[in-house]
Amino acid sequence: MKYPQQTPLFPSQTRLLHGGDYNPEQWPAEIVAQDADLMDQACVNSLTLGVFSWCALEPSEGVFDFEWLDRIMDSQYERGRHVGLATPTAAVPAWMGTKYPEILRVNPDGLRNRQGNRVNTSYASKVFQEKAAIIVSKLAERYTGHPGLVFWHISNEYGGCCYGQESTIAFREWLQDKYKSLENMNRCWWTEFWSHRYTEWDQIFPPGAPLGETSIHGLTLDWKRFCSDQIISFLAMERDILKSHGPDIPVTTNLMGTYAGVDGFKISKHLDFVSWDSYPWFHGKPSEVDGWIRTAFHHDLNRSMGDGRSFLLMECTPSSSNWYPTMKLKRPGQHTLEGLQAVAHGSDGVQYFQWRQSAGSLEQFHGAVVGHNNRSDARVFCDVKELGAKLNQLDGLVGGWVHTKVAILFDWEVLWAIQTCLEYRSKTPQYTETILSFYRSLFDINIAVDIVDSTSDLSKYKLVIAPMLFMLRNGIEQRLASFVSNGGCLVTTYLSGWVDDSTKAYLGGIPEPLRSVLGIVPEEWDELYQDESNTIIWDERQFTCTTYCERVLNVSATVLATFGNDFYAGEPALTINHYGSGKACYIASRNDADFTNTLMHHLVAEYDIVPNAKASYPTGVSIRTRNTPTETYFFVLNYANTAAEISLEEPYLQDAFTGEPATVQITLEAFGSRVFRKPLSSS
Ligand code: GAL
Repeated sequence: MKYPQQTPLFPSQTRLLHGGDYNPEQWPAEIVAQDADLMDQACVNSLTLGVFSWCALEPSEGVFDFEWLDRIMDSQYERGRHVGLATPTAAVPAWMGTKYPEILRVNPDGLRNRQGNRVNTSYASKVFQEKAAIIVSKLAERYTGHPGLVFWHISNEYGGCCYGQESTIAFREWLQDKYKSLENMNRCWWTEFWSHRYTEWDQIFPPGAPLGETSIHGLTLDWKRFCSDQIISFLAMERDILKSHGPDIPVTTNLMGTYAGVDGFKISKHLDFVSWDSYPWFHGKPSEVDGWIRTAFHHDLNRSMGDGRSFLLMECTPSSSNWYPTMKLKRPGQHTLEGLQAVAHGSDGVQYFQWRQSAGSLEQFHGAVVGHNNRSDARVFCDVKELGAKLNQLDGLVGGWVHTKVAILFDWEVLWAIQTCLEYRSKTPQYTETILSFYRSLFDINIAVDIVDSTSDLSKYKLVIAPMLFMLRNGIEQRLASFVSNGGCLVTTYLSGWVDDSTKAYLGGIPEPLRSVLGIVPEEWDELYQDESNTIIWDERQFTCTTYCERVLNVSATVLATFGNDFYAGEPALTINHYGSGKACYIASRNDADFTNTLMHHLVAEYDIVPNAKASYPTGVSIRTRNTPTETYFFVLNYANTAAEISLEEPYLQDAFTGEPATVQITLEAFGSRVFRKPLSSS
């Protein structure tokens, strides 16, 4: 198998990380001393220090105090723990926000926020950049070379944007750099529409404000790109300072799933490894399998953003959050299941927000390893300890990889383009949900999947699924054509190939070479009312479709399924076209899960894409594999609220925790999990 060597998070990593955010600056010395012992008990081997610690590090302007941090870095290192040291730029001290109010964010209505909260500064502010550079340099000077420091955690959950003067000027400069001339920009933005032609750069303002411009799609999309780029350049500024002191110390920042404010693939190119914060039950319930599938998708996304390298689950809650609509506790088994899920999908550790529950302020009731009761026999503490002990037994997996032959294309710029051009009147496009619907089908049959974007290398895949590829950018149409021509299978859907990267519609419809690859031309697009549906007929089976039905003109494709009703009954609903040595499928409507499952089954079988294990198992069970040069690890994870009987037909498996040989029949309790290992030489 062609695969790079193992990719641990940092060169000396020999253990899966287990630990998380710790703010000793909030606590007296005796609690900090107790914490060190409790951490030993809970098998904690890594800490994130310094997130939001600016006022402790620089209590007044230009006056620095590192003694408390020295003490904790030294003492934790002596205990054998690794430290990911954060730069504190996600929240500014009160002295700074009040002395320099120009650093604070201006909201879309033009009102400046007051000092307070967090992530409340303008990335475009020169004063903020200068202040951030000072504290980052001080940290880098002092701690680069500290034996406990294994990576830098830059800031915290970068996000948002500022609508103030400095940001507006920076946006105009960004546009000038991109378009070079107003004429070019006007052409790309189609500004003759409603007399919008710009004749001076100073006429351009951030769009989207309640009182502001909303009608120029090119402008709106560029603003989203600019806001994401602002975050990336601020991060790069911090990273460059850190790297100038120690180029070999890895840097990361904690990302937030599919958060729309920053292009995850683009920012990841500036990181040595990707990390993210997982709080899955904001939208769902931990007792529902679907929430676990969504989390799996996000893990796969983060692994893929790092080109398949190990990532880090930087934060998850040990019990509940304080901002979920309902503060549900994790049920027995769920904590270990959540941690092992992350590792199964490529994380080289499990870290928490937070070690110790703060006594006051906004997050005082957020879950933590050590609660206000300070008890090490509390259920949450015991769960954490149990997972830590298990992770210790999986150290051989550090840097291991996930083998995939299938990719789903999820692209932040496509998301922004869809939001910009189609969502001004309704939320029906549901881009991310559509991506998830394909992911779910493959998840159910235990096929490992990478998530790629329009810039990714596609050559290692057999099957690429690119739903709703509304905007074509970065030559993706050429690259998909080469992928298919070289023998790959492409699946795409309705709402694909509509606009170029400045949101201008393609005149003449879907452009070449995608048109020839697909062998069809979409002609009309029928949107269904919410209470309406149509059917499609495929091999004498009937499936339901909702929301979108496209009428397509067939040029050279084979029609596999047709619409059942309406004036386009009998017209193509699913086509397949041969192109070079490969094939491309076009799905013309939004279909039920049964349809997607059926199509995925067919393609996986045809392209000989093998599931993670030979096994039979009920719905809700997932089997994932991760490889090292010498072993394959099998994670058997039951996301269902009921016990599951699994028949695992892989020989030579050994229980990773007990060392016992595995039996073929396994029973997992509700939310149960097992891990097996198998030497590669035995397969
Ligand atoms: C994260 C954040 C942490 C903490 C946590 C609470 O998004 O990075 O600092 O606020 O949420 O769930």
